[in-house]
Formats: sequence, C-alpha cells, structure tokens
Amino acid sequence: MQTILVTGGAGFIGSNFVRHMLSMRPDWRIVNLDALTYAGNAANLDDMATQAPGRYRFVHGDINDSDLVKRILIEERAGAVVHFAAESHVDRSILGPLAFVETNICGTARLLMACRDVWEQSGRPRDFRFVHVSTDEVYGSLGPDGYFTETTAYDPSSPYSASKAASDHLVRAWQRTYGFPALVTNCSNNYGPFQFPEKLIPLMILNIVAEKELPVYGDGQNIRDWLYVIDHCEALAAVLERGIPGETYNIGGGAERANIDVVRQLCTLIDQRLHREGASCGSRLIRFVGDRPGHDRRYAIDAGKIKRDLGWRPRFQFEDALAATVDWYLSHGEWIDAIRSGDYRRWIDTNYGAARVG
Ligand code: NAD
Ligand code: TYD
Repeated sequence: MQTILVTGGAGFIGSNFVRHMLSMRPDWRIVNLDALTYAGNAANLDDMATQAPGRYRFVHGDINDSDLVKRILIEERAGAVVHFAAESHVDRSILGPLAFVETNICGTARLLMACRDVWEQSGRPRDFRFVHVSTDEVYGSLGPDGYFTETTAYDPSSPYSASKAASDHLVRAWQRTYGFPALVTNCSNNYGPFQFPEKLIPLMILNIVAEKELPVYGDGQNIRDWLYVIDHCEALAAVLERGIPGETYNIGGGAERANIDVVRQLCTLIDQRLHREGASCGSRLIRFVGDRPGHDRRYAIDAGKIKRDLGWRPRFQFEDALAATVDWYLSHGEWIDAIRSGDYRRWIDTNYGAARVG
C-alpha cells in the first residue's frame, strides 16, 4: 500500500482524481488535505468510506499550515504529493487577486518547504514524488496558429495565471536548488462531473436548464482546448508513476473549440434531453456581454511529449464526454441544490461538529 497526499482534493479535478485513482489503484491510500473554500465540497467524496474502506482520509486544513502538512506526511508515511489546491477562477482573480497570491504562491511555497523538510529528514527517499498540477494559462495567449510546448516562454495575462506561473517557478526552483523530486504539469481547460458552476460549461448547463441568460464574453470566438477530467487524472497518474523529476509535461485534449460553439452545442444537447424546440430552444438565451479584461484569445496544447515519453493519450472524445457531462448535471439535482443553497458548506459541522478533522 502506498499513501499519496492530495491537496485540494475536495475541488473539481482533485475529487475526480481521488475517486478515479482509488478505483483504479487498489494499493493506493489517499489522504486529502483541503481547506474547504467556496470551491471545496467534501461531500463529493462521501461515498469513499464505503467504496474504498480504510483507503481514504479527509483532513480539513490549509496548505499554508506547515506543521499540519509535516504531521500528515510523517504519520501517513506518504510517498508522494499531488498538489491541486489553488484559487482557480480567472474572473475571481480579477476581482480579488490577493487570495490567489496567498494560496497559489505563498501556499505552494509553504507546502514545498514542509514537504522538503520531511523528505530530507527521511533520508531523501529516491522514489518520493511531488506533482504540481498547473495550467496552460501560464503561457498566455496564442494567435490563430501554433501550440504551447513545454519550452514556450511564460507570459501570463490574469492574476490567476500569473500566480500559477509563480508557483511553477517555485516548484522548479525547489527541484534545481535542493534536488527535491518535483514535476510540473500544465493542462488545458477541463470539464466533467463535480465542476463548480462558475466555469463556462457547468454555468451554461445550469443556466440553460433554468432558462436564464447565457453570458458569452466578447465575440465568443475565444478558443479553449478542452480535456475531459478523467483524461487529466490519468495523465497525472502517468506523470506520478513514470515521469522524471525536474521535467514538465503539457497535457491537452486536442479539442479546440470556440466558446460560442461550446455554448451552442450545450443548448442542442439540453434541448434534446428536455424536448425543447422552436421558441423554447436554449440558444435564444445567448447574450454577448462585455469582454473579460485581459481575455486570452486562444489556448492549444502540444501534448506530444507526454504521449511519447509516458504513453498517455486522451481516451474520451469531446462530443461524447460533453454529452455525458450534461447527463451528469441533469441527474445530480441534489448536488446542484446544495451548491446553490450553500448547504455544501455545512459539511464539516454536519459530519464532525465544529472540531477540525485530522
Ligand atoms: P477548484 O477551484 O475546483 O478546487 C480547488 C480546491 O482547492 C478546493 O477544494 C479548495 O477548497 C482547495 N483549496 C483552496 N485553497 C486551499 C488551501 N489554502 N489549502 C488547502 N486547500 C485549498 O479547482 P480545480 O478546477 O479542481 O483545479 C485544481 C488544480 O488544477 C488547480 O491548481 C488549477 O490551477 C489546476 N488546473 C485546473 C484546470 C481546470 O480547467 N479547472 C486546468 C488546468 C489546471
Ligand atoms: P472559464 O471556464 O472561466 O475558464 P478559463 O478562463 O480558465 O479558460 O472560461 C472559459 C472560457 O469561457 C473563457 O474564454 C471565458 C469564457 N466565458 C464566457 O464567455 N462566459 C462565462 O460566463 C464564463 C464563466 C466564461
């Protein structure tokens, strides 16, 4: 049994990673350290106690709390860390950048310090790994041609992407300066179950269902390279198990779509499922609104390196996985109601009283 410390495992990608990997790797135990910000929903993983008995532990805490991180690493004898915890929404970073500096930059630095301390004290085990989960947004904006590779110069546009860029530099510095066995991944936009409905795809799904307006920024021609979240999780497992410390791996789905096309496709999928036609079709709700400041035009990943070196490739087609995502949201009304009402934030009190879990 090997134990992995996951940070931010109550969020979108982290909770999919925990769920998927506990099912795919029966010899893994996962400890999930999450501060439960507005984006964290510990209930996403409530069924792990029965699905993976004895192999999942939730710890309510902050990556900035070095003593807690060290205690977990030592008492669990964790052999790896997969670092998801972050403030992750570009629009929020425009309104309030400091939280992004505090979590994404300071939090990553403190996490690195705590992990390195324990790694040094344990005799620098050769097989220890620290995987830093980052974004393609660090590379900035592409024109109509070309792709981001691992050697593309960083050129972040938003407080979010600038804070992630800084965290990537810190991780690489720890690897080069201290020999700390860290790897960096830069992935394109994810979609799938459990994504907080402030990001494009779940926001649009919920608004179409509720017959609310669909705010499309600018001319709707900004392009994102979409990857189904399970493909991302499998890429991260490949990096953890077969990646080389000090290396960076770009992860992408090769599914470039203009935002307006994604929104139209979601309208069609939901129209079909809710038997809406003519004047009640979802596309009537589309509204072109003012553009996001600093809005990157196009992201597109060259995932050649991870395919060649680690044998990973995406398994899911965009059209199929988008339809599956719509079906997941349509069949998880309780999850959506808990998000809307804020009930999901009462998870700690309901499950553990006011005491910290750990
Ligand atoms: P998310 O916002 O859904 O989840 C973030 C999680 O981190 C939440 O559970 C939150 O409670 C937790 N968290 C925040 N601050 C914390 C702190 N100080 N200590 C402990 N936990 C804390 O984010 P996501 O979309 O799942 O993204 C996860 C990671 O993947 C992020 O690092 C993000 O930059 C990166 N990423 C995301 C995408 C994407 O499309 N969503 C693409 C590429 C990379
Ligand atoms: P988002 O899901 O916020 O991800 P990111 O900004 O990290 O790429 O947005 C995806 C794209 O959709 C981005 O180009 C901004 C656009 N967008 C809208 O047009 N309307 C919206 O309401 C949102 C949330 C995003």
